Parts: sequence; structure tokens; C-alpha cells
Amino acid sequence: MDTSVSLRQDLPHLVTALPGPKARAIVDRDSAVLSPSNTRSYPLVIAKGEGSIVEDVDGNRFLDLNAGIAVCSTGHSHPQVVAAIREQAGKFLHMSGTDFYYENIVTLGEKLSDLVTLGDKSREKRRVYYGNSGAEAVEAALKMARYHSGRDKFIAFFGAFHGRTMGALSLTGSKSVQKKGFAPLLGGVTHIPYAYCYRCPYGKRVESCNVECVKVLEDQLFKTTVPAEEVAAIFVEAVQGEGGYVVPPQKFIAELQEVAHRHGILVVFDEVQSGMGRTGKMFGHQHFGVDPDIITLAKGIASGMPLCATVAKASYMQWKPGAHASTFGGNPVSVAAALTTIQLLEQELVDNAARIGGVMKERMLTWPSRFPIVGDVRGLGLMLGFEIVRDQATKEKAPDLRDLIVELGFQKGILVLGAGSNSVRLAPPLVLTADQADFALDTLEECLAEICAQ
Ligand SMILES: Cc1ncc(COP(=O)(O)O)c(C=O)c1O
Repeated sequence: MDTSVSLRQDLPHLVTALPGPKARAIVDRDSAVLSPSNTRSYPLVIAKGEGSIVEDVDGNRFLDLNAGIAVCSTGHSHPQVVAAIREQAGKFLHMSGTDFYYENIVTLGEKLSDLVTLGDKSREKRRVYYGNSGAEAVEAALKMARYHSGRDKFIAFFGAFHGRTMGALSLTGSKSVQKKGFAPLLGGVTHIPYAYCYRCPYGKRVESCNVECVKVLEDQLFKTTVPAEEVAAIFVEAVQGEGGYVVPPQKFIAELQEVAHRHGILVVFDEVQSGMGRTGKMFGHQHFGVDPDIITLAKGIASGMPLCATVAKASYMQWKPGAHASTFGGNPVSVAAALTTIQLLEQELVDNAARIGGVMKERMLTWPSRFPIVGDVRGLGLMLGFEIVRDQATKEKAPDLRDLIVELGFQKGILVLGAGSNSVRLAPPLVLTADQADFALDTLEECLAEICAQ
């Protein structure tokens, strides 16, 4: 099956100044009634979406390079996903997998268990817990790690984003505004530097370093402030998402898992953003050859329907009935969308992410030599980022120029978002075509050239 055959493959077309009059009116109404804690970078008001194209309420068409923040993995309203949703909606909308049985949660559970177990050295079967959002997947992992280990402490990384519920927020180390005013958070969480090699916190070079960012655990942390035998789990993103699309070296992930296991500590791979084909493999951790103890999935799992899954080695998911559950977890309509999403990912879209993402990255890697404000280019598959600096030598961050690229991109018909304090991220639907990818990069190059000429 050609999964992209019926999808719209055209390019942006703007018909009004932005925002158009209808968009402006809705933005004004939104500002008066919705929580001001939402973070909007530009006034896009969607009316409909198809594939990688989004049309706003004034008839302007944009190329979506963030897929509803890495969610619409199969593109907007993929016809097969929509058909699966319609079919399930006509049967029943909800029953609660917490208290009753239905087949599609079992089928999806078997599929996720197989997908995570495949290629894993331990071959240990996985069990699956369902919720509705990334933060809920992380909460389940936190509770499961404590329940399983009888330990209460956690380690996470600076720059990490794990969500905004109180447990997940305690692990988040992204922006202080996300924490300000919400203390006390979960006790016993310690943050350490991530393997952010472009700005190595230890001043090393990746080719010759001793993975100091992992060594710090045994050399310092466990000896001084955090007894290893009290640590339940280390939470790590396979590719740091909100932190700036930072790809760690293989040795970081491999050694992290080795050290953790030496001390009986679980490693939770938060794959809410890097999972479901985004990186050109089904899961981000598969780039590093590790067996995850627990992984968290959400965002792209159901193409836009709310669903998350916490997938753990069966021996770690041994809690008693009632220990953890959620009324809406494993909603049958979301699960139907997930089953079709996974089918499409396996048939074609994971490969498409690897192929188109690879071509895009190759071209983007020329940017630092062509545009003095591009400090670094990085990414895997269609999880691509570039970092904007004032000066390549000093690496001084230029968040204002980054914001300008995001805004200029919008004015030219592409939707991108920032990540970290000064990076731009590209997380398009995995149906992105070669022409659309070219258009995206042509437009970004125009933005970079205009800013460099200022
Ligand atoms: C890695 C990671 N974990 C967890 C979350 C939280 O997901 P949600 O916003 O669905 O709660 C996010 C969201 O961006 C994420 O990127």
C-alpha cells in the first residue's frame, strides 16, 4: 500500500497578510477566555489539515514542520486513521479498560510489547499501561519504579522535559518558568548535565571524552549526596526534545544503562517525543543498542488522538490491582487510531522519516559554513534541530534571532517551533515528501540569509 497516495502533497499558499481577519478575531477571543499559560509563538488558527499541509481560517495554506508538536505522525487526518476512528466510534466510544475488557487494547498491548521486545537482547516480554498524555506515561513510570524497587529517589537531566504534572514536573529540567510557583515538588530528584556535546558541560570533545556526564554518577553523586541504593530510576530522553533536539553519543546511553544496572537502578527512556518512528527507527533508543527497562510513549502514537503507553519489562510491572489506573486510559477510539498509525509507520513511514530526514540533515549540515548564525545542526530522522548563535566561535546564544526565524518562517508559510533557548526544531509529519522537504529548507535558508544580511 502506498500510504501517501491520497494525501495532499502541495506547497504553501498565502492569500492574506498574516494573521488574516478571521484568525485575528479568534486569537482575540482566545486571549480573553483561555488559560494564559499556553505558549503560542505565532497566530496560526487552523481550520483543517491534510498530510503535511494546514489551512487556516482565512484560507492560507502552510507547510507544517512540527505536526502539532511531534504528534500527527501520519500527517493530518490520514484517511486510514480517520476511517479507523469512525469505525470504532460507531461501535462504542468508551468502556474503561480499568474495569472492563475490550479487544483492541489487548491487540495494541501485544503489538507494543512485540515492538519493544524485538531486537532486545533480554527478549523479556513487556507489559503495557495506558493513559492519555505524555505526562501521565511519565507519572506511571515514576510510580512503577518506586513500587518495583522500594526506592524513592530519581535522577534526571538538565534540559529534560518530562511534562507538567507534579511528578513529571519534578523531573523536568527545561525552563524555570515551568516550575516557578509550584513548589514543593516531588522530593529526591537530582538533575545532572545531559550529553550536550556542542556545549559539553565538562569542556571535553566527544571523540576523546570519558563520558564524564555518566562518570559523575559514580565519581561524585553516589559518593556525596545521593546513595545509589536509594535511587529507583534514571529518566532520560533518547534525544532531548524540548531541550533543543540534542542527540547524545552512543557511549553516553550505553554507559548510563551500564552504571544504572550495576546499582540496581532502572533506566526509563522517555520516548514521548522521540518514539513512534520520528527518529527513523520505531523508537529512539534503538539507535543506541540498549534494552530499555521502561519506555514512555505518547504524542505520535495515535496520530493526534490522546493516548499514552508506559511499556515495561514484565518483571517490573508487577503492581497489584488498583495500584494505578485511569478512567480514560486506553480509550478505544484512540487505540483504534494507534493500531492504524503503527501499521502505517511499519509499512512505510518510519523508512520515510529515515530517508527524507537523512537528505534534509545532509543539506542542513552545510549551514554552519554558509550562515554564521548557525552554530550546530543535529538530529535523527525527522527530529532535526539547529542552534542559533551570535558568534560561532564564542557560541553565544541568540534566542532573539531564533525567534525571528520562527516568525519569518510563519510569514513565509512554514510552521516551525523553537526548542531549548536558541534552537529551531523540525518535527514534521512523517509523510513529508521530498518536494515539501526541499521547500522547507529553501524557506529556512531564505530566513537565515535575510537575518544574516541585516
Ligand atoms: C519527552 C517528553 N516527555 C513528556 C512530555 C509531556 O507530554 P504531554 O505534554 O503530552 O503531557 C513531552 C512533551 O513535550 C515530551 O517531549
